[in-house]
Amino acid sequence: MSKISITETVLRDANQSLIATRMPFSEIEPILGKMDKAGYYSLECWGGATFDSCLRYLDEDPWERLRKIKAACPNTKLQMLLRGQNLLGYKHYPDDVVRLFVRKSVENGIDIIRIFDALNDVRNIEVAVDETLKCGATASGTICYTISPIHNLESFVKLAKQIESLGVQTLCIKDMAGIMSPKEGYELVKAIKESVKIPVAVHTHSTAGLGFMTLLKCVEAGADIIDTAVSSFAGGTSQPATETMIYTLEQFGYETGVDRAACKKINDHFKKYRKEVLEDGTLNPLVLSVQADIINYQIPGGMLSNLMAQLEAQNALDKLDDVLKETERVHKDMGYPPLVTPLSQMVGVQAASNVLAGERYKNISSEIKNYVRGEYGRAPGEINPDIKKLILGDDEPYTCRFADTLEPGVEKARKELEGIASSDEDVLSYIAFPTQATEFFKKREERKKNTFSYRISKID
Ligand code: CO
Repeated sequence: MSKISITETVLRDANQSLIATRMPFSEIEPILGKMDKAGYYSLECWGGATFDSCLRYLDEDPWERLRKIKAACPNTKLQMLLRGQNLLGYKHYPDDVVRLFVRKSVENGIDIIRIFDALNDVRNIEVAVDETLKCGATASGTICYTISPIHNLESFVKLAKQIESLGVQTLCIKDMAGIMSPKEGYELVKAIKESVKIPVAVHTHSTAGLGFMTLLKCVEAGADIIDTAVSSFAGGTSQPATETMIYTLEQFGYETGVDRAACKKINDHFKKYRKEVLEDGTLNPLVLSVQADIINYQIPGGMLSNLMAQLEAQNALDKLDDVLKETERVHKDMGYPPLVTPLSQMVGVQAASNVLAGERYKNISSEIKNYVRGEYGRAPGEINPDIKKLILGDDEPYTCRFADTLEPGVEKARKELEGIASSDEDVLSYIAFPTQATEFFKKREERKKNTFSYRISKID
């Protein structure tokens, strides 16, 4: 019987995709023990937007959350998502920061780090992969799936081999936009499985209604690991449902190792929470529906809704078709970067500006300028030479890795935080999200004082 491993995403991606990562630890805590014994390959529970959200909205220390999850889940591997040299944000960090972040993530409980770069520039994941391996954890090298005239089976297989050669233990095909069709997924997994030796994981979203079918076909093609979310937090912009996939796969004779009775208990728990977030508006029912439009436009759902909101704000929704056509041209001008954050927003905003100004590249955002300068990494294809000239003049773009131009950051931050930070974890929170972390430290200090006076009054 073939074995398929299941990564449960409710704590990270489902939480992030459906309710903007607003799930507090108190909602998670009571069910962790059951989740630990359900038989998942891993629990995706940290990284991505969870870190920022803890500090910004939930008044939680993200590191403490991780340690608590680890304490409650000693048997299941804990997994996080890491944006390579960007860590959890969009700017590049120097190598010493990346290494310390990876090391502390593993020390605090992470077993598997899924590492990707938005441009699929392997140089931007190398250091994080290297440190993960040095820490004795599992590095999952990741391909961002995208559709363009220059991305094809051959280019993805080449990339897969490059990533495998870094020494990663697994390879992930990450379809963040949920645009990978069952046929494309089948052919891609098949081609990659024929070319690499390590297990292949598939990550997709149900946004366009393709997710369930795509995962099934990917399993048929030989995928070893799939990402799913417990059904009350599945579907729409989240992952396909865990219970549905297990049921289907077991009928086809696959062994998932996941206990369906445990799944039911886990789902019953999150069902109650879903009701709450539906009622208070945190969960918008629209995100649970099928957005087949994105199949026609071949752009991520989030990008389409951003464009529409942007045009609506300027009373120009009638220009949507023009902007979508211009999006294709800007995408090409930029050398076909995968349309994921932040490139999806950058390309969309530039396209809207080109149409609304009545002149292409009359206004150019600083992000697009930095991208053309090479600060995000190497573009997958060629950047339009005329646009390059327009932006850079006679300057040359970076050919080195952008992080090589950065000064080390850990010692500097440690000094800045003397008397404020109580650990390297604090220092890393500050480096990643300075404003949010500073606010958080202040509130934590207040709480400590309050606890102290409370204790004194008790003694009295
Ligand atoms: Co995702």
